[in-house]
Amino acid sequence: MKKLFIETYGCQMNVADSEVVASILSDEYEMTEEERTADLILINTCSVRDNAEQRIHRRLRELGAIKRGRPGMLIGLLGCMAERLKDKLLQEEPALDLIAGPDAYRTLPELIHRAAEGEEAYNVTLSREETYDDIMPTRYAANGVSGFISIMRGCDNFCSYCVVPFTRGRERSRNPQTILSEAKQLLADGYKEVTLLGQNVNSYRYETADGTVTFADLMELVAQLSPTLRVRFATSHPKDISDELLHVMARYPNICKYIHLPVQAGSTSMLQRMHRVYSREQYLERIAAIRRILPDCAIATDIIAGFCGETEEEHQATLSIMKEVGYSAAYMFKYSVRDNTYAATHYPDDVPDELKTKRLEEIIELQQSLSLASNEQDVGKTVEVLVEGTSKRSEEQLFGRTSQNKVVIFPRGNHQKGDYVMVTIQSCTAATLIGTEASSSTKP
Ligand code: SAH
Ligand code: SF4
Ligand code: F3S
Repeated sequence: MKKLFIETYGCQMNVADSEVVASILSDEYEMTEEERTADLILINTCSVRDNAEQRIHRRLRELGAIKRGRPGMLIGLLGCMAERLKDKLLQEEPALDLIAGPDAYRTLPELIHRAAEGEEAYNVTLSREETYDDIMPTRYAANGVSGFISIMRGCDNFCSYCVVPFTRGRERSRNPQTILSEAKQLLADGYKEVTLLGQNVNSYRYETADGTVTFADLMELVAQLSPTLRVRFATSHPKDISDELLHVMARYPNICKYIHLPVQAGSTSMLQRMHRVYSREQYLERIAAIRRILPDCAIATDIIAGFCGETEEEHQATLSIMKEVGYSAAYMFKYSVRDNTYAATHYPDDVPDELKTKRLEEIIELQQSLSLASNEQDVGKTVEVLVEGTSKRSEEQLFGRTSQNKVVIFPRGNHQKGDYVMVTIQSCTAATLIGTEASSSTKP
């Protein structure tokens, strides 16, 4: 068998897609972790910010050097950057042999064949139907504890700054039966956690002969598979996270009490320019609903600093909403203009880079203190941890996550990857909870 090396950048959906690609190619290729001996290298890319793309350009130059020493090796580009830049990339990047956009992975065997013959090989056609729902992913890089399941593709929201609706195409939901069979397969393989993935999971909808399956219905179906299978999801759009979903989360202890609810900005004026379709007040109303229905739920977010026209007052509103919500974690970015988006064609990118940097630093500094405060609240508590592996710092320590998605480090004892362990938290940093096993703690 020939050897395939896949490198994945970007979001969790790309991780799930790479597993689909490995499966599509599994008749001809087996996976390797050694790029130097691979016959085919595939890079699954992200276009969400310019620096993500620059990284890929640098990486392609490095791989080009490896390829020169290995005649016959092929290099292909997948994912959002493939979709955004299309065949232009084949001209600009001499190392590249083939290009496949996110909806074209079924054609990879044919594209590879053409590339091997020296023919032009690219397919960036987007689809309205493709969900790869009949393909059981090859989980070549998973840790055996936690797996991703794509439940939908694309995005119809067109936030004004965002490239995703262009690179991933229209929103479509996957057949729930195939989602359930994938989850059952993970369970049978010993996995303890699944994360259901989509850009906007709350708008999941699938029509069946027996009626419509909503996201809340789907979560319930997956949660019912086994009480020892943790269920997570990402990402929710604040405009349509429903009380119905929050009540389902409250009913099932195995649905993790963690919601990633990107706010992006704290002022209604900025949210309007971003086309986020909620106001500051509406967002805070959803936060109040989460606090009411799920008192022990952690809330994380995404924030963009320095978006078009951002005033000091708007920046301050972002800082104040962060404090008001008290996020347990946040992914924070400097605004990066993306060609063809509404913002790129309608608003000047007028916040100077130094000011973007300064505002981002203020946001990061505030989040550090909020993360620390959130973790400090857990000191003294006993929490259930699903062990994911050995701590990077010490062989003697294991690490895992709480239902709230917080990382916990504790002494190994008799435990191993995949165990649920009750841990009493002794101390913390902004990033980690540090604890010891509570006496007589193991859950089956
Ligand atoms: N679908 C998810 C987000 C997907 S992209 C959602 O709507 O919440 C992940 C994050 O990247 C976004 O939440 C946003 O914070 C950030 N992002 C997207 N486009 C960006 C851009 N042009 N510049 C900077 N950050 C961006
Ligand atoms: Fe981008 Fe908005 Fe869609 Fe998220 S919801 S992927 S930010 S367009
Ligand atoms: Fe990036 Fe595409 Fe995901 S742009 S964030 S890899 S959907």
